[in-house]
Formats: sequence, C-alpha cells, structure tokens
Amino acid sequence: MSDQKLPRSLPLSEAITISAQAIGEVMDGRSLTEVLDQLDPHERPIVQSLTFDALRKWIRSHELIEKFVPKPPPPPVEHLLSVAIALFLQGNHDGKGYAAHTIVDQAVQACGEYEPTMYAKGMVNAVLRKVGLMMEPPAGEKRYPPDPIPMFVPPWWRASLKKNYPKVWQALLIQQAHRAPLILRVNVKQSDRDQYQQSLAQAGISSQPIEELAGIKLSSALLLSEPVHVSELPGFYSGAASVQDAGAQLAAVLLDPKPGELILDACAAPGGKTAHLLELADCEIVALELDGARLGKIGGNLDRLRLHSDKVKITRGDASKTAWWDGRLFDKILLDAPCSASGIVTRHPDIPFLRREADVKSLQLRQRGILTQAWKMLKPNGLLLYVTCSVFPEEGEAQAIWFAAEHSDALRLSAPGQILPSGTNDGFFYALFKKNGS
Ligand SMILES: C[S@@+](CC[C@H](N)C(=O)[O-])C[C@H]1O[C@@H](n2cnc3c(N)ncnc32)[C@H](O)[C@@H]1O
Repeated sequence: MSDQKLPRSLPLSEAITISAQAIGEVMDGRSLTEVLDQLDPHERPIVQSLTFDALRKWIRSHELIEKFVPKPPPPPVEHLLSVAIALFLQGNHDGKGYAAHTIVDQAVQACGEYEPTMYAKGMVNAVLRKVGLMMEPPAGEKRYPPDPIPMFVPPWWRASLKKNYPKVWQALLIQQAHRAPLILRVNVKQSDRDQYQQSLAQAGISSQPIEELAGIKLSSALLLSEPVHVSELPGFYSGAASVQDAGAQLAAVLLDPKPGELILDACAAPGGKTAHLLELADCEIVALELDGARLGKIGGNLDRLRLHSDKVKITRGDASKTAWWDGRLFDKILLDAPCSASGIVTRHPDIPFLRREADVKSLQLRQRGILTQAWKMLKPNGLLLYVTCSVFPEEGEAQAIWFAAEHSDALRLSAPGQILPSGTNDGFFYALFKKNGS
C-alpha cells in the first residue's frame, strides 16, 4: 500500500469515524488491507491516509492521551483520539493539513456515533484543545518538542531488533514511522527508464532514478519526489509502469530470467515479481498461489501490463506439495515466501499490531516446507532465489544456513542477504542457491 494524495472526498468528521472504526478492527486482529478493501472507492484514500498516520504516530498519541485523560478512555474514543491527534502531529504547514479548530470541530462531530455521546464529545473536545495548545502555544511558551517518533512495535519485536541490530534498531523504528515513498518500476517492454522519466516530467511529476541497491544495479526504478495517485501516472492503465518498492525490484534482477526458461514463481500473488520477470525476458512462468482470492489479482496485473500470454500459467496450489505439478523440472525458482512482513511496516503500519511472537516460528516452519519441496522441482544447475520481506533473522539468514546444511547439493551464490529498510527501500532478505549436479 502506498500513500497517495487525492482530493479530500469525504467530510473530515465521517473520515475520522470510519478511520477510528478501522483501527478498532485492526486491534481485533483484522488486516487493514482487508478492512480498507471493503470501503467505497471515494472513501478509501482519505480513510487510508488517516488510519496509516494514526498507526504510525501511535506512541506519541498515546503519550498525550495518558497525559490528558486520567483514566483510559473506552477503546472507540481512544481510537478516535489517536486519529485526531495524528492530524495535529502532521502540522499545518504551507496550507497543507488542517487548522487546529477544524480538527477539534470535526473530531467532536465524529463522536456522534459513540454512547454516551455527550461524554465522548466532552472528552474529545477537552483533550484536543489541550493538544492544540501544545502545538500552537501562546507567544513565549515552549512548543511541543518535534523530536522523532518511533513506530509502535510489541516488546518481543523491539527486543529482537535490539539484539540483532544493536547500532541501528532505534533509527530503524524511527524510519518506519515515516510515510513510505512512492517508487515505480518502469515496464521496460514499453519504454526505458529515461523515456518514462521524461513522460512523468511532462505530466508535472518529478522523479529520480534509483541506480542501485545493495550493490545490485537497478535499471527500472524511479523514486517520485511526491506520491501521486496512480491515475496521474502517464500510461499507467496501459501498463507503462507499476508501483513497486526498490527492494522488491531486486528479485527479478537477481534471478536474471532468460528467454525460453521455465520459471516457477512459487508464492506469486499479487504478481508484482511475476510481472517483473516477464518484463525482463520472454520466459515461461508458472505463477503459483495458495490463496484463491489473491490468485485473482495476478491475471489483472499481467493484463494491465500487457504481459499475459499462453507462456504464463496462473495456478492455485500449495508450493509445499506436488498436487498441482506436472513433473517438469524448473530452470529457476523464485520463492518469495510468506513471512512476518516486518520489513514492510512503512507500507503496512498495521503489521506490528497484528503479529504475535509465535507467528515467527510457525512461519519459519512453513518457509522450510516450501523450500524443501521447491528444491525437488529444480533442474540440476538450476537457481533458486529465497526471498522474504522480513528483518527477523529467523526468516532470513537462519533459513539460508539451515537450507545449505540440509542440502549437500546446494551451492550458495552471492546475493545481498539482509537488506534493512531505509528511506528508499523496504526491508528484504535474499539468498540465491545453485543446484549442483549434472
Ligand atoms: C510475500 S507474498 C508474495 C508477493 C508476490 N511475490 C509479489 O511480488 O507480488 C507471499 C504469498 O505466498 C502465498 N502463499 C503462502 N503459502 C503458500 C504456499 N504454501 N504455496 C503457495 N503460495 C503460498 C501467500 O498467499 C502470499 O500471496
């Protein structure tokens, strides 16, 4: 998910109400993507933007709620306050953002949904007025310190980062509380990066190429100076470009597809990396996906990019089993495994609220099941690229070490390993194996 600017399409009070309800659903364990997918198209952009910001600024909004509300408010009011306080924390610079009195008025109106309404309105009004005063204090008084806010993560997650990345874990959490940049992958079957960058410039959209990441050259990645809605991107609906993080763009580059090769994309939906492979070479691809609802997205993406052909087989199946397999060995396998998604928190700020510590262990076992089966489907001298969008070593380096120890015919080739999230890329792990044999 990316942050995209669109005209405000709902009254702010309604957007605050829906966003607070969405936060309630996340706290009950539902994925935010699922919740947002159910909204009307005109509601989604503003609700997504408010909800993302509220989750990113959770730590700071809760410091303020604790400061100004003596006893914890009921969850619906707490969620509403977290949305409204995040709006304050964005500030109102250069005419962007909302004025303090607008935030207070609209948040108070949004309380109409909650019982007892008068109590909720009174509390929200009082708290937000105090927050407003901290943001815009009377002359001479100290302004609320604008120090960086870390992303909320549960204690076990924080402890893991601290242990594994002792020098950078705090900077990582601060970075993950920021909005994600919008990065494009130019469809090189239609135009090269320079040409597309010019088309963007003609449309008034400024961008710059991302030339490399982790020592690997990228030839299709463009970083936009400001996020825009995809409908503003020249040729988007005829497949000129896709939204894809720079870290994710390494996958197809590292697997280096060649014309005619038979490639398995073992965990393919929604098809971002399948499409990139097809943009780089006329290969034959089996795009395998376990989840029926997600499977449907692959065809849609390939259609938009004009990459659908009889060389692409979109298949529902479990990569840790063989029921779907016709027995043909693959030249190359991309294994973009299901994982904690701890590397893509800037784009999915609900993840830290949803993950449990035990998930990491069960995901590790699922990843091993898929790795073990995939290896059996690879030709001698074939390549397997193991990828996760995680920062936990249990899903990255520990898996690569385990796999190499279990498979005497696996030769580990050079690949970036753990890439940490930064201002221009999400966090990924990459390990590349060649199958020795004749
Ligand atoms: C990280 S996502 C893949 C993203 C995709 N490669 C892309 O770039 O658009 C992992 C996917 O694996 C799927 N999955 C999970 N377990 C699977 C299994 N055993 N076999 C096949 N797919 C599986 C999930 O439903 C999810 O869609």
